[in-house]
Amino acid sequence: MRKIIIAGNWKMNKDLKESIDLASSVKRSLYDMEEVEAVLCPTFTSLGDVSDIITGTTIRLGAQDVYWERGGAFTGEISSYMLKSVGCAYCIVGHSERRQFFGETNETVNKKAKALLKEGIMPIVCVGEKLDERKAKKEFDVVKDHIVNSLKGFTREDMLRTVIAYEPVWAIGTGINATKEQAQEMHKYIRGLINGIYGEDVANAVRIQYGGSVKPENIKELISQEDVDGALVGGASLKADLFVAIVKGCL
Ligand code: 13P
Repeated sequence: MRKIIIAGNWKMNKDLKESIDLASSVKRSLYDMEEVEAVLCPTFTSLGDVSDIITGTTIRLGAQDVYWERGGAFTGEISSYMLKSVGCAYCIVGHSERRQFFGETNETVNKKAKALLKEGIMPIVCVGEKLDERKAKKEFDVVKDHIVNSLKGFTREDMLRTVIAYEPVWAIGTGINATKEQAQEMHKYIRGLINGIYGEDVANAVRIQYGGSVKPENIKELISQEDVDGALVGGASLKADLFVAIVKGCL
């Protein structure tokens, strides 16, 4: 049985006070939520304070990126053991915005995910095609490339500690979500790829989130799909009532 996981990717939003306010509001409604795993992914500057707020609750902390070296002369970067020290249980890697604006590749995603796993942090590995790729009917090829190469060299144990987020780029921030059929079709395909590499037991245990314009209005139909195990939420995670409604919509 896969536990549903709803993660709020705050992206580059909220200063420290705003982060504290948002995390505190979410906590008031979700502090003892057992059935659904709720994860907050604030900016680096707010991780420590948000961590303090949610400690002792069932809400988990996630970061939005990491660098793969442990330490050293890498000005501006943050490593997995530093994320661990502020209480991160999860970290997003390979988000399409990082692939698009910051030169993230499957190879760097792979290094980052492995560095996280070494520290006991669970990577949320993002995959997904762009609009022109879907129009050219290349969405399965693109996602296969992301999955196979981002997860290269993962052991069975690594795979069991990894969450996949399918985020079609055309659905991110557009208000146009993938239909439940489109999401299910791709999630099933991803699970099949994992099955091919790691076998059925692992494939059945790995959680696959959907991301892209998830809202309280569409979460129920998305989560009703057999292979949709949660959501990675952007815009709607910035308002406590919407995020809480999405989490509760999974019950
Ligand atoms: P939106 O929910 O704003 O479409 O963003 C999705 C996303 O990119 C989450 O990582």
